[in-house]
Amino acid sequence: MLKKVSLLRDRVEDWQNYPISVPSIRSLEEIELNSRICFFIGENGSGKSTLIEALAVHYGFGREGGTRNFFNSSTEANQAIDPLVRALRLSFDRRTGAGFFLRAESLFNVASHIDQSDEEQAADPGVPIASFYGDKSLHIRSHGEAFFTLFELKCRRNGLFLLDEPEAALSPSRQIALLALLHDTLQTFQDAQFIISTHSPLLLGFPDAQILSFDGGRIHEIAYQDTEPVQIYRRFLNDRSGILMELFRP
Ligand SMILES: Nc1ncnc2c1ncn2[C@@H]1O[C@H](COP(=O)(O)OP(=O)(O)OP(=O)(O)O)[C@@H](O)[C@H]1O
Ligand SMILES: [Mg+2]
Repeated sequence: MLKKVSLLRDRVEDWQNYPISVPSIRSLEEIELNSRICFFIGENGSGKSTLIEALAVHYGFGREGGTRNFFNSSTEANQAIDPLVRALRLSFDRRTGAGFFLRAESLFNVASHIDQSDEEQAADPGVPIASFYGDKSLHIRSHGEAFFTLFELKCRRNGLFLLDEPEAALSPSRQIALLALLHDTLQTFQDAQFIISTHSPLLLGFPDAQILSFDGGRIHEIAYQDTEPVQIYRRFLNDRSGILMELFRP
């Protein structure tokens, strides 16, 4: 399990520019992970994807998502993260080396790559790639269906799984189904670990998860009921007309 993430401050080359300039990253010293499921939350632009992507590249995953074996091409755009990758230290108690990086916005790219790729087949001879991914191209599934297929096939095992806003693909009932799938995966696979960035109050409800907020320019632990998604949804559902009246007041 990944136990600790540290920013080695003497390895930081440039404090002024992205990615270290993001306030939550600049103030990072050490994060201790104390649960096999950890959520990153925070306002848009607070640095969640920046840290997830840096963890993914450090661990050796494809930069745009995927496993260690595929989709690892470097472009100028996705190299922006490298100064942070070089300054991070990841401490594991047991390192499986396995896992998957799933970014909501690059599900399409991962699907394309899987359609073309025979690498997986080479790694697992006898299993045709089409049947490995459910016999049907991920491109002709809906966004949510493709997400669930990928999750079933790539995340139901031991390893480190990094998911960036998985709710982007999922209806509320599918988000609840994902809670059940996560729970079952953690029960079945003792070396499975998830780090998930989210704005979803449903996903955050996973029992005994560690929740790290990136708000206020520092990464800090926060209780479920104190998180912004939970507070805002609760207020809105409890007093929709009051909130709308306030919002639309001329
Ligand atoms: N390649 C890049 N070059 C320069 N700045 C970037 C780059 N990628 C992200 N940023 C900036 O870094 C900050 C953190 O972005 P990041 O994508 O990590 O936020 P986030 O917490 O994931 O937000 P969201 O909830 O919207 O996904 C933002 O201000 C963003 O504009
Ligand atoms: Mg993000």
